[in-house]
Amino acid sequence: MIPFSPPRMDQKIIDEVVDTLWSGWITTGPKTKRFEKMLTAYGGQRATLCVSSASAGLELMLRWFGVGPGDEVIVPAYTYSATANVVIHCGARVVFVDVGPDFNISIESIYRSITERTKVIMPVDIAGWPCDYDEINALVLRPDIIRLFSPATKEQKTLGRILVLADAAHSIGGTYKGKKVGNLTDITVYSFHAVKNLTTAEGGAVCLNLPLPFDHEQIYRELNAKSLHGQTKDALAKTQIGGWRYDIIEPGYKFNMTDIQASIGLVELSRYDGDMLARRKTIFNRYSKGLGKFSWAQIPVYLQPGKSSSFHVYLLRIKDITEFVRDQIIQEIFRREVAVNVHFVPLPMMTFYRESGYDIHDYPVAYDNYSREISLPVYYDLTDAMVDTVIKAVVDSVKTVTGI
Ligand SMILES: Cc1ncc(COP(=O)(O)O)c(C=O)c1O
Repeated sequence: MIPFSPPRMDQKIIDEVVDTLWSGWITTGPKTKRFEKMLTAYGGQRATLCVSSASAGLELMLRWFGVGPGDEVIVPAYTYSATANVVIHCGARVVFVDVGPDFNISIESIYRSITERTKVIMPVDIAGWPCDYDEINALVLRPDIIRLFSPATKEQKTLGRILVLADAAHSIGGTYKGKKVGNLTDITVYSFHAVKNLTTAEGGAVCLNLPLPFDHEQIYRELNAKSLHGQTKDALAKTQIGGWRYDIIEPGYKFNMTDIQASIGLVELSRYDGDMLARRKTIFNRYSKGLGKFSWAQIPVYLQPGKSSSFHVYLLRIKDITEFVRDQIIQEIFRREVAVNVHFVPLPMMTFYRESGYDIHDYPVAYDNYSREISLPVYYDLTDAMVDTVIKAVVDSVKTVTGI
């Protein structure tokens, strides 16, 4: 069986992890701090805080901004549950909006969904394809939208408008108009989960890029404390001479990254562009070349002038089929020993959200994208021969099921 997305592991990663294990310090410490600095240099954002997952990072930032009961947060209907669940954790209301044919949130739908209760917009770079951040950033600055905004907390008053909190769980390394994902909008959150392009097994990072007069060093310190129970010192600082005394300035969370996780990230990031991204791009191109010649194949967009994906997942769509036929094709592909997937079942179709009153009929593009979509494997160790095996399995399966 060709697996869907095993992590890349090699001796370099193992050596770095072992070095940490023997170092006498395995939780948040020097390697996490080094990884944060490296991420800041890589993405070009003003500051970076490593956390235990993207979910933790997204929730941390919603809470930092003071999102709570009575507030609304705009989320695409087409995303993983984490994006919406964190809004529910904060007690706010999720406002789903439809997406475009490129799978990303529709700017027009965002505009139509903004109310005086809207506090945050959470665009998601699906499969690594950056959203149109210039348009989203311009939207929250429109005078009519700013007039609607009713700030309640210090942070909301300082920003004076809707916050853009980008869910970049898929898109580290993606680029937009000469800039990397990480410094394209107010706040961006990466995921380093095991199936992601850049993994630390579990992990994430918050990239800060807020406008003046926000002070990034001060916000970093505040978030650092918030991610560690509101402690004024982390565990390492407490072990230094005379450093045992600390204070709790708020009832914070336990969202910190460990140095074991950061060790993997340090190795992965040091070779990310030239190695991991380059390989993934080659795989995407090979899929497009092999499948693009079939009239039933709808090839995903992943490169445009001024815009590049991080090549996270290859979202193939089959033209003019139903969800039922798509499911049959997937069964056939699995029978041919190839693991594929679907990214994603739109959240309004999930039991919790459906029973909360959301209706998939309100998100026709999300449903259309989902019903015809098959995610193909993309990972560092997927060889050209394996890509060709996947292509053959897809072509043969489509033929078996549809006769074309
Ligand atoms: C779009 C999206 N957002 C957020 C997350 C959550 O990431 P994590 O597992 O690091 O919390 C994921 C994870 O798969 C995701 O796909």
